[in-house]
Amino acid sequence: MKQAQIGLIGLAVMGANLARNIASKGFDIVVYNRTAEKTQAFIKEYGNEHLSGELQDLATFVASIESPRKIIIMVQAGKPVDAVIEDLLPYLEKDDCIIDCGNSYYRDTIRRETYLAPKGIRFMGCGVSGGEEWALNGPSIMPGGSVADYVKLSPIFSAIAARDFNGSACVTHIGVGASGHFVKMVHNGIEYAVMQIMAEAYDTLRKLYNLSAPEIADIFETYSQGKLGSYLFDISLKVLRKEDEFQDGGSLVDYILDRAGQKGTGKWTAIDALERNVCVPTIAEAVFARNISASKKLRGELAPTFTKVSAKNLPPLSEFIPLLENGLYASILSAYAQGYDLIIQASTTEWWDVNLAEISRIWEGGCIIRAEILSFLHQAFLDAPAGVSHLFAIPEVMNAFQTTISDWHKVTSIIIEHGIAVPTITSSLSYFESITDDKHPANYLQGLRDFFGAHTYERTDREGTFHTQWSE
Ligand code: 6PG
Repeated sequence: MKQAQIGLIGLAVMGANLARNIASKGFDIVVYNRTAEKTQAFIKEYGNEHLSGELQDLATFVASIESPRKIIIMVQAGKPVDAVIEDLLPYLEKDDCIIDCGNSYYRDTIRRETYLAPKGIRFMGCGVSGGEEWALNGPSIMPGGSVADYVKLSPIFSAIAARDFNGSACVTHIGVGASGHFVKMVHNGIEYAVMQIMAEAYDTLRKLYNLSAPEIADIFETYSQGKLGSYLFDISLKVLRKEDEFQDGGSLVDYILDRAGQKGTGKWTAIDALERNVCVPTIAEAVFARNISASKKLRGELAPTFTKVSAKNLPPLSEFIPLLENGLYASILSAYAQGYDLIIQASTTEWWDVNLAEISRIWEGGCIIRAEILSFLHQAFLDAPAGVSHLFAIPEVMNAFQTTISDWHKVTSIIIEHGIAVPTITSSLSYFESITDDKHPANYLQGLRDFFGAHTYERTDREGTFHTQWSE
C-alpha cells in the first residue's frame, strides 16, 4: 500500500482545512480523529487520491505514514496535545517528528520537546495563523524546532503557505526550540492590540459624531485604501455593513452584546512580557479592555451614576477623519514596536536568533494581522543597521512618528476631553513618549524608596550606590 508523506491528527475546522490544503498541493496525507465518525464523514466529503483516512485505529494510522514520520497535531491547546502525544508514543519510532500546529503555550512546547528528545522523537512547535479560511487557502506559518526538521517539512510548508507581497511563501524557520510558538503568541498579542485600537476608533466615531455602523464602515474603507490597509480593516467593512436579520434595517453589530471573549494568547503575551521586564502596555491594555468588557453587569450598574461629557467644540468630521487615521497608524506602529521588542528580548535570552525582517515578511500574507504596515516594517528591518535593538531605532520608523505625532496628540486629546475610554490609543502614545524620553521621574521614585525602605539610589554625577538619612 502506498504510504502517506504526512499524517494529521485533529479534524476540527483548522485541522480539516489544513489537511485539505496539503492534499490540494499534491502531498499524500492521511488523517485521524479521536472520533472515527468524524474521520469517515470528512473523507466521504473531501477524500481523494491524496487525502485518505478510513483507518480507524492509531496504530494503523501511524503505520500508513512513511518513515521517518511527520505527524501534524491540530487539537485544542493544553492537555489534549499531551494526550495525543501519549497516545501516539507506543507506535512511534526513532526520528519520527510530531509537529504541533495549534496555539500551544510556548513553555509547554519546551516541556514537550524536552520530554520527547530522550525517546528519540522529534518535536516541532509551529505557529499557524489565518483562521479556518486561510488554513485552507494559505496561512502564515511560524515553525520552530531544529533546522533539520524544518528542511524536511519545508517543501510542504512552502507549498501550502500564503504568499507575501513579493509572491514568496509566508513561512520561514523562526528559530530553534519553542520560538515558533513564541512568535505566534506575540502575533496574537499584536492582534489583540490592533483590534482594540480599531475598536476605540469605532467607539469614538459613534459616540462623538453619532455615526451609524455603515457610516463608520465608509470611513474605515478610506483608511483601508491607504497606509492602514489590512485584513482587519477589510473584514471590519463586512462586519459593520452587515444588516441584522431580526431587526428590520438595523446593523447586526448594534445587536451584538459588548462582552468580548478570549482564549488566552493575549494574556500569555502580557504575562510573558512582565516576567521578562519588557513593556507591552498596549497589548496588556487590550487584554484589560476585554476583561472590563466582560464586567457587563457592573458597567450597567455604574453607568447611570456618572454623567458623561456631552460633545462640544468638536472639529468637523472631515477634519477629524485624517487626524484619526494618523492617530491609528501611530498607535498601531507603537503596538508593533512593543511586540517586536518582546521578540527581540526573548530571542536574545533564549538564543533563538530570530530575524525580524523575515517575521514581518511572513506576516504580510495569510495571518490575521496581515497589513500594508508589515511591508513597511519588513523593509525597515532590511535597511536597519545590524543588531538594531528596537523598532524606534530605525530612522524611517522614527520618521513615520515625526509625521504623525502632532495629529496623534490632537486626536487623543479630543477623545480624552470627551470622556471616551481609549486605553490602547493612549498607552501606545505614552509608550512612545516614554521610551523616547531620557529624563524620567524615576529619580523621584528612587528618593521615596530610599526614604521609606533604605533601598538606595545611584547618582548622575558619580559612581556608586548611595543612601541618605532623609529626616531626623
Ligand atoms: C490566528 C488567530 C487565532 C485565534 C486566536 C485568538 O492567528 O489565526 O489569532 O489563533 O483567533 O486564538 O483568539 P481569542 O481572541 O479568542 O483569544
